[in-house]
Amino acid sequence: HAPDLEALKKEAAIRAVALVGSGMRVGLGTGSTAKYAIEEIGRRLAAGELSGVTGVATSEASDALARQVGIPVEALDPRPLDIAIDGADEIDPALNLIKGLGGALLREKLTEVQARQLVIIADHTKLVTRIGEKAPLPIEIALFGFLSTIERLRAVLPAGRLRQNGAQPYVTDNGNLIFDAQIPEGHDIHALERQLKGTLGVIDTGLFLGMAQVAFVAAPDGVQELRP
Ligand code: A5P
Repeated sequence: HAPDLEALKKEAAIRAVALVGSGMRVGLGTGSTAKYAIEEIGRRLAAGELSGVTGVATSEASDALARQVGIPVEALDPRPLDIAIDGADEIDPALNLIKGLGGALLREKLTEVQARQLVIIADHTKLVTRIGEKAPLPIEIALFGFLSTIERLRAVLPAGRLRQNGAQPYVTDNGNLIFDAQIPEGHDIHALERQLKGTLGVIDTGLFLGMAQVAFVAAPDGVQELRP
């Protein structure tokens, strides 16, 4: 019997939402795991277990879901967020992450860098020993001149492709494109991040390095609480 990943994701989400207190401003992540966290915050608000919580959404989709479950949503402003809860595509032992397979990496990074505590929720299939082991790295790039930017990126990470949405390029909530690149073994991910961020046309990358304080990772034998 295959472990039900959806049940595991939900378990991890519920553990993270236990850290949310009344009156907190909460960064709301994006993706199939973060969705369970948003629903759980909504449920706890409706049940009267929480009050006065406001959310800052990391995508149009999470904004819509939050409103639907009764979480008041605010725009990001320079004030710190008490907590942010989000999924990830890869998690290494230091809690470095790849994020953005769901396309929301830029708003996620902008929001989560302001969180006093970034809490990652995932099922055990997201754990890796090396960033880039399984998932491609999503890199958000400007639409204008994207072929030139991709050529510059290929000098750094040769294997990659422009993300598609059917026959069209995939367009982010910010009107940009995404180049999904494989990270070969042997890269120093901090140096890689600097190099990518220094590449003309790159807006941001899905490398979230040293940002997460805790991860709740659900496996069939229970939820592990990981810290860097
Ligand atoms: C969204 O842009 C991503 O960063 C998600 O957090 C990530 O892709 C994880 O998504 P799932 O929870 O759906 O796997």
